Amino acid sequence: MSPKKTISGFSKLSKAGKIKWIVQNFFKEPDHVVQELESYWHSNEEQQKILDNFSENTLSNFPMPFGVAPNFLIDSNPYCIPMVIEESSVVAAASSAAKFWMSRGGFVTEVLATIKLGQVHFEWTGDKAKIKYLFPDLKKKLMEECFLFTRSMVKRGGGILDIELIDLTDKEDKLYQLKASFETCDSMGANFINTCLEQLGRSLVDYFKNSEECKNDEKEVRVVMSILSNYTPDCLVRASVECPIMQLGKFPNGMTAEDFALRFRKAVRIAEIDPYRATTHNKGIYNGIDAVVIATGNDFRAIEACGHTYASRNGQYASLSHCTIDDGIFKFWLEIPLAVGTVGGLTSLHPIAKRSLELLESPSAKQLMRIIAAVGLAQNFAAIRSLVTTGIQKGHMKMHLQNILSQLKADPKEEIAAIQHFSEGLVSFSAVREFLEKLRLSNG
Ligand code: MEV
Repeated sequence: MSPKKTISGFSKLSKAGKIKWIVQNFFKEPDHVVQELESYWHSNEEQQKILDNFSENTLSNFPMPFGVAPNFLIDSNPYCIPMVIEESSVVAAASSAAKFWMSRGGFVTEVLATIKLGQVHFEWTGDKAKIKYLFPDLKKKLMEECFLFTRSMVKRGGGILDIELIDLTDKEDKLYQLKASFETCDSMGANFINTCLEQLGRSLVDYFKNSEECKNDEKEVRVVMSILSNYTPDCLVRASVECPIMQLGKFPNGMTAEDFALRFRKAVRIAEIDPYRATTHNKGIYNGIDAVVIATGNDFRAIEACGHTYASRNGQYASLSHCTIDDGIFKFWLEIPLAVGTVGGLTSLHPIAKRSLELLESPSAKQLMRIIAAVGLAQNFAAIRSLVTTGIQKGHMKMHLQNILSQLKADPKEEIAAIQHFSEGLVSFSAVREFLEKLRLSNG
């Protein structure tokens, strides 16, 4: 029977039915694949149901390493940071940078603002002056009619902060925007914001429908769409480290602290002026940030999308971090938008995300912003430190070697011999395989 690559009604099949269809039509060893998928199911059925419901058409779970980076001193408080990441060296690098800065004052952070944004785009075919003239009254109505949805957020200290009318008609005929700003306290707030925005859209139409004065304008207004913006430049946090150059210590190959500081600053400068380098530089920052964002059940796609837009805010994609040396003081800092939550959504449903937050001593959203920014800076520091001293491959190759040795099922004695052998030489899969083959042959 030839394989069927398409199907209708797949979502209506049971989990077993979905797996059966997949393995029969896409895999060479169907029984083996079924066993493998099932082996990653949670042993507790209730827990598996929770995981299944995070998405649709769930067949199994996709394991990722959940690790920790200890010794982070952030605003004088010690933290052990949960990180979910599949790339070797990231957790080791974060831990090493954390330890380095622990004895030099640690990370200092500041939450600069926590404003989130949403937009209702609409067309207004009536008189431009009229919509502008009516807007103060319209805004009052919009706020009032949204109160049903904002009441409990207002009680917690949040809600809708403001609504602005943005005229986009110079770019697109008849197009306007309601730009709403929100405070969502400890929740990421995506659902809250989207619910409010859809109500704002309805209220906008109703305003013209129901008012005697504007009845004739009802047909002039048409909502295009209502959705939050993941670009939140005013949900911003800063993390920094600093110390006198002389306290930076010693570096490999006889590099002095001053030489290190100058090279480090140059490396950051390159990322400030060259988008190719900036992309890799910022990717290094997000190695740390994403790992904590995922571990705490937050939305890493939103965080990344926002950060990269922010990195382009001056017209060219550039470094998110900066470095100065003034009066012998080395300063390195990062300013980054981070819209995260610590209540609601996955943060309270995912069993390990809950543990991550417990490990961080149940932070508020603002505290989590501080922690994540510090990890991003630590990761960036570790990467640049390697790049301007030993090169990145030394550390990477150590981890790479470990992975190859596990793949080739090396026993502990073989591991020791291989680590010694490759301490200077270049690591590649074939070189390690050849080394093990020779070793195994000589040991009979
Ligand atoms: C690798 O995942 C990240 C780095 O390339 C970051 C950087 O170059 O700054 C090491």
